[in-house]
Amino acid sequence: MRLKDKVAIITGAAAGIGEAAAQIFVREGARVLLADRNGPGVARVAERLGPQAAAIEVDVARSADVARMVAEAQRRFGRLDVLVNNAGYGIPGTVVTTEEDAWDALMAVNLKGVFLCCKHAIPVMAAQGGGTIVNTASNVATVGIFDRAAYVASKGGVAALTKAMALDHAAERIRVNCVAPGVTWSTYFDKMVAEHPDPEDFKARLKARAPVNRWAEPIEIANAILWLASDEASFATGAMFTVDGGMSAW
Ligand SMILES: NC(=O)c1ccc[n+]([C@@H]2O[C@H](COP(=O)([O-])OP(=O)(O)OC[C@H]3O[C@@H](n4cnc5c(N)ncnc54)[C@H](O)[C@@H]3O)[C@@H](O)[C@H]2O)c1
Repeated sequence: MRLKDKVAIITGAAAGIGEAAAQIFVREGARVLLADRNGPGVARVAERLGPQAAAIEVDVARSADVARMVAEAQRRFGRLDVLVNNAGYGIPGTVVTTEEDAWDALMAVNLKGVFLCCKHAIPVMAAQGGGTIVNTASNVATVGIFDRAAYVASKGGVAALTKAMALDHAAERIRVNCVAPGVTWSTYFDKMVAEHPDPEDFKARLKARAPVNRWAEPIEIANAILWLASDEASFATGAMFTVDGGMSAW
């Protein structure tokens, strides 16, 4: 019960890493507000998890939605101890081929979304005497990949913002860390495989990106998020926890 009596918000909790984190947070004793822009999807996940979980439809790029999300966690569960900023997505493109609108839309979710959620949650945590934030960055924040310029830049921003917030809020007893996953099976890859002319070749190349020659299951990333969110990580702040099957060690 590593999160006994804690209250958490997890964004992007309707699927993938966020859904897996919600499952283990509940198992470890937390009460969790699951936030996602996929309202019906996140409601289904919360229903499966039972009375410790509740769902809210939120676009993390919208300040009013984020304010409503933080208020709802307090109204329903009485406090806020943990914020997991996990909502995000990728798009293909170099800086030349990425449309300006697509760049802005991705940055509004992947980077500004983290800013907004922290902006609203940190004063609540500070007033309570502390809290902890875990951001889902990516190993591409440190190694880069081809044809994902906007995504790589957004995750580099999340990694840097993690350090800035760790410094700014250490005195308020708020720890801020990020996880840096490598390739992790998600709805994103489901779609890419379905649309690929040679799905098996695509999957083999995905696996081969890491020396362990496989992708992660979402739970393997969620376990790292759990550790950073728990009191076991009480001396960890400003850190990036890379969980990528050795991809960035190459
Ligand atoms: N899957 C990977 O290989 C991988 C690797 C490194 C980092 N990540 C990061 O992990 C995080 C989770 O991704 P995943 O792989 O579980 O993907 P996923 O697509 O399965 O889940 C992402 C969830 O975020 C939600 N979401 C997207 N935009 C949102 C918004 N504006 N407001 C609220 N919710 C929103 C989606 O509806 C979805 O439920 C993302 O930040 C992603 O960039 C993923």
